[in-house]
Amino acid sequence: MIKHQITINYSIYPTEKELSAESILLLEQAKKVLSHAYAPYSHFQVAAAIRLSNGEVITGANQENAAYPSGMCAERSAIFYAGAKFPEAKIEEIIVVARREGEVDLVPACPCGSCRQAMLEYEERQSQAIRLIFKRNEEGFIGLDSVSDSLPFKFGADSLGI
Ligand code: THU
Repeated sequence: MIKHQITINYSIYPTEKELSAESILLLEQAKKVLSHAYAPYSHFQVAAAIRLSNGEVITGANQENAAYPSGMCAERSAIFYAGAKFPEAKIEEIIVVARREGEVDLVPACPCGSCRQAMLEYEERQSQAIRLIFKRNEEGFIGLDSVSDSLPFKFGADSLGI
């Protein structure tokens, strides 16, 4: 048995102001749609904003369902819509924010495994890295240059031999 180690590079932005001007704009768009979350069960609102290569910004918010697994996360709501509406555009950056219903302050929220898997699909499809930003904790925001850094062991088209 040989032990291995994986190193992941990421950036920490201690405050919002340290994000790039483009990311700050995207962050504002994401915050705006937190109120579009339909989260009567978890009372946890998540929003995602995506900047596309054609200049469009696509947003999404979590949509829950009484049959819990039938609900959908914010990131996948946004990325599936982006793919459906602008299939030719490349996804440049995704920013994810969350807060508890009734509160103003953002809370940490790392995209769930299913959303990372879905985002990875689009990254591989477009052969161009997608930047991912989300709030971590008091350290502020985490920025990854590629979604694949968030999912080092991944299942992709190559796993199917495609
Ligand atoms: N949620 C997201 O929208 N994105 C994630 O990456 C993790 C979780 C939503 C799903 C559910 O509506 C609520 O947060 C609580 O899990």
